Amino acid sequence: MPKINIKINTVKIGKKFNILLLFTQQIYMQLLEEIDGFLKTFGDGMLKDRISYSLTRDRYDSIYYKKLNMKKIGRFLSAEKSNKYVYFHFENYDLKVEARGDGVFKFSWTDGPKLPVENIEFDDLQLHDNTVSVGNYSISLDENGLYLKDQDGKLIYQGYIPDFNEVLSQSLRIFGDDLFSGLGEKAGPINLRGHVYRLWNHDAKGSYGPDSDPLYLNIPVLLHLHDDVSYLIFFENAGDATVDIGFSREDKVTFYFKSKPMVYYVITGDIKSIYSKFSEITGKPYRPPYWAFGFQQSRYSYMSSAEVRSIVDRFNELGIPLSAIYLDIDYMDEFKVFTFNSDRFWDVKDLTKYLGERGVRLITIMEPNVKMEPGYTIYDEAVKNGYFIKYPDGNIFYAPVWPLMAAFPDFSRNDVREWWGKKYDFMKKNGVSGFWHDMNEPAIFVAWGDNSMALSAAQSNGSHSEVHNLFGYYMDKAAYDHLSKTERPFILSRSGWAGISRYAWIWTGDTETSWKEMKQNLLTILHMSASGISLTGCDIGGFVGSPDAELFIRWLQSAIFYPLFRVHSNKKSKRREPWEFGEKYLGIIRDIIKLRHSFLPQIYSEAISSSITGIPMIRPVYWYSSNPDMLLVDDEYLFGDSILVAPIFSEHSTSRIVKLPPGLWYNLYSDEKVFGEIKVEAPLNMIPIYIRSGSIIARDEGKLILHVFHSEEGESAKIYIDAGGEDSELDISVSKDGKINIHRGSSIKAVTIKFHGVYVKGITINGNTKYIEDNLFEIEEGVNELQLIFQ
Ligand code: GLC
Repeated sequence: MPKINIKINTVKIGKKFNILLLFTQQIYMQLLEEIDGFLKTFGDGMLKDRISYSLTRDRYDSIYYKKLNMKKIGRFLSAEKSNKYVYFHFENYDLKVEARGDGVFKFSWTDGPKLPVENIEFDDLQLHDNTVSVGNYSISLDENGLYLKDQDGKLIYQGYIPDFNEVLSQSLRIFGDDLFSGLGEKAGPINLRGHVYRLWNHDAKGSYGPDSDPLYLNIPVLLHLHDDVSYLIFFENAGDATVDIGFSREDKVTFYFKSKPMVYYVITGDIKSIYSKFSEITGKPYRPPYWAFGFQQSRYSYMSSAEVRSIVDRFNELGIPLSAIYLDIDYMDEFKVFTFNSDRFWDVKDLTKYLGERGVRLITIMEPNVKMEPGYTIYDEAVKNGYFIKYPDGNIFYAPVWPLMAAFPDFSRNDVREWWGKKYDFMKKNGVSGFWHDMNEPAIFVAWGDNSMALSAAQSNGSHSEVHNLFGYYMDKAAYDHLSKTERPFILSRSGWAGISRYAWIWTGDTETSWKEMKQNLLTILHMSASGISLTGCDIGGFVGSPDAELFIRWLQSAIFYPLFRVHSNKKSKRREPWEFGEKYLGIIRDIIKLRHSFLPQIYSEAISSSITGIPMIRPVYWYSSNPDMLLVDDEYLFGDSILVAPIFSEHSTSRIVKLPPGLWYNLYSDEKVFGEIKVEAPLNMIPIYIRSGSIIARDEGKLILHVFHSEEGESAKIYIDAGGEDSELDISVSKDGKINIHRGSSIKAVTIKFHGVYVKGITINGNTKYIEDNLFEIEEGVNELQLIFQ
């Protein structure tokens, strides 16, 4: 702690009290030290640090944090075309309008900190009578705001003229029975309408359940569906904001921002194309390694190499697939990032070798907080080079987290990211394969007030108040940029911002263990999808609490197609490795994990496809149906276009209703063709899964098998197959009359096909007919065409 003498100061404690400090800070600290010592037996031993930080933060913020004080917008004066763009001139601001004919619009009212979005090219706009036109769209303006319409005059979006003062507010019109989704990670219902949310990355303080807000990752992005039309609005803003979605006024959504800029995009088109276009602005998901989609086992904390070995051995003995195992904070030496505890993990290199021989990767937690300890290399280097975030007067920002007082690298700087990224080499040298970025909101242990950084702390891209929501994003970028030079990294992050999938995966953090939270996880993941985030998952079984076998199994089932498939739990939770629930359930748990592993080729292919298109993998049912009845289906999800999962979310339930999007669907287990609304039996060992007719699904069943689900119109797919870190492409189509065309990358040899829904008697290749059994046959290398012989 830097020592600062103050004789008299006014300090805010929480929002409620103002107390006059009559002591010098040193005397005050001494007193706290006494109290802290006394409390140590039952407190966390950080009382002094927590209070000292909270006081220091309040003092700095009272001096340096300034609220906005913006001029009103004033009257509209004129419109002008300048180069390709159009300016709407108001008394005090010029609104710049940029647009693309395919439905991307950008509205810039003010400048502000530079945020990580791509500069996309816009089209040449036309301006007549204060109306802008581009492609099939027009934007007009009146005293009520801006109207975006399609060529038939249908109103897609209406945004009111913003109001500027101490906050920047922008309202949007609600039309009727509208649906809203997005805002990043939200523990709300499928339709966020009627609620108020805050956009401020926030540590949920160890445990949360439905409706808790805000959580770790927030993005000012909202998908708005009304009358069959949809658009997405995305604000380039990384500061504190509140969004009122028809709560105060039924007909309006209002975003309130406490900092600049006021720049936003409106993107329209069909839903999938919206996410492709959005990803051009915020970045596409990266290509993760194949192994990352396998089953991952974690716990806070596996305490020694010996313990990790014995768990991995047990997985092996029991024949349960395991892709990775995690080390939580206790592997470190006094919670110092980039260290290993030498008593318990002295042999980490041998450990990772041992795991590697068994096909298991080691993933370690990484903290953004660097222990304040002269002599600790990471700390010393950062102090010497000025890499830590500072208060505006140049003092380093210190705050307590796991390692007690710690400092925080300014990840917004290129040089700091480069320095930090290279530190991962030490972990790699020890054989660590993946990294788990926690506490990167950043989380801070406070005595009162917001549990993050002081608003006035200065970062290279702005004050913390302006760029808070980007802290985790830039930490992820630091690791990704370095690691991706030599491999496809695995980075799991708790916090982030728009476009985070270009660097990391996101999990929903410290959820409580309960039936309702298991379902909430799905909704939160769907809101993340609606925010353009593709690589998502949750702590299977919940973080805080101990699920019984039924809840654990249902949770594992619900997550069967979540990109991240990881069990994790808190220190006090009962052990949760697959065998911990007893012999009776072990078989069921093993089968679920095996089922997941059999789908890895399909999951991987979808992830690569998502990295190309920018479209998130987990999707709500309403993407696929215009039926208003399907809008609020909140207990099912689609993985890609072809797989529908309808988990069991209620205790003691062994059946449920499944609402299927239009078309014919196949029951995964029985091949029964179903449509519409059906009732399905789902005993504890069963997850209702349906495959869309017309799709082709890749599975690993000892060898790669492509499952073709027959439809009257034929079937086709583009499948990306992992070829040792590279992707090989396979294009396959089956025409109505049974002609197969297949094109595959050179690394893909023979391909096995299994037909569903129609009896295939044989195949003809180059005039030679061969009869087959079980609808199963092989297409040998070099064969690109063949004819099916149906019954
Ligand atoms: C945070 C993380 C949790 C982790 C714990 C200890 O609460 O969200 O996953 O186990 O810290 O590191």
